[in-house]
Amino acid sequence: MKTKYFSVLELDRAAQLLCSAELIAFPTETVYGLGANAMDVAAVQKIFVAKGRPSDNPLIVHIADRNQVSLIARNVPKIAEQLMSRFWPGPLTIVLPKRSEVPDLVTAGLATVAVRLPNHPIALELLRHAGVPLAAPSANRSGRPSATTWQAVSEDLDGWIAGLVCGEPTTLGLESTVVDATSHPPRVLRPGGVSLEQLQEVCPSIEPYVRNLPTQSGSAVNSPGLKYKHYQPSAKVLIVSAVNAVAELESIAPQMSVAYYIGVSQPADPTRFRCILVCSNASDYAAKLFDFFRRADLSAADVVCCEAVEEVGIGVALLDRLQRASQ
Ligand code: TXA
Ligand code: MG
Repeated sequence: MKTKYFSVLELDRAAQLLCSAELIAFPTETVYGLGANAMDVAAVQKIFVAKGRPSDNPLIVHIADRNQVSLIARNVPKIAEQLMSRFWPGPLTIVLPKRSEVPDLVTAGLATVAVRLPNHPIALELLRHAGVPLAAPSANRSGRPSATTWQAVSEDLDGWIAGLVCGEPTTLGLESTVVDATSHPPRVLRPGGVSLEQLQEVCPSIEPYVRNLPTQSGSAVNSPGLKYKHYQPSAKVLIVSAVNAVAELESIAPQMSVAYYIGVSQPADPTRFRCILVCSNASDYAAKLFDFFRRADLSAADVVCCEAVEEVGIGVALLDRLQRASQ
């Protein structure tokens, strides 16, 4: 199929395609999303095909207005209302009891549905033009780093999707935080744009994110998407300290290997790296990470050395992505 490239002034045309069961990629404040009418099984099916995504990995349903929650969720616990009041629109996805009208394909057969109201003018306007909730995973081929620019979406999905809205690079650069509001107390299933510290201001008892959390049966994970290989460039990802980056690199890679470096401080021996990106702080690092991975791949780097960060605030989500990318 030929992918149409839309400017941000052509959202009505992009929305028409969404209403004809086609896929449209669009910017949000976190990463680009790949949208389909969430209430149309045929449209949602196309997401799994275009991404090469396993169908047991459920999707987030995006809405333009808080009133639309009742179209999707059977009921909204009080704590979820409080989280919405504080963090919507924004990078927080809330898992709620699902209404039967939402196709099972969207939620991979779960009795719950993940809902997000994004804080991005283009995403919101597209949602309003479409007039329906949009199921939208990150707009990358399954397993690859999420796309933070329209060019990255194009790299992965050109020819697979009907359209792409070409907006600015995303500002946060990492995906939304996912909170399960159906468990008592609520629990963080995926760290992201809203930090634990911020969530605790509204819900002091919230269970922090635990990597590889076993469920009661001991076999599965609570947020199914997290069991998959994710965020990985073709280059090997190595988590390092700035001081010992080169020693850590030499312990795993040959001397001649092409190495990239990203972090918040300059590595001790900068001459060893083909490319170095020193970010101003953890948020800036988070915003630039996925694009840096893709640039490293385009220049056939063998290794990307990523400086470890302190596990607070956005650092929790950033380290999580680094760990998954390095697996
Ligand atoms: O920032 C974001 O969240 C981006 C933008 C486009 O909104 N979307 C995104 O979607 O990251 P995706 O599909 O890449 O990740 C969705 C995550 C997965 O980890 C999935 O398992 C989890 O949300 N999820 C979805 N529905 C769920 C449910 N009912 N219960 C538990 N986890 C769920
Ligand atoms: Mg994703």
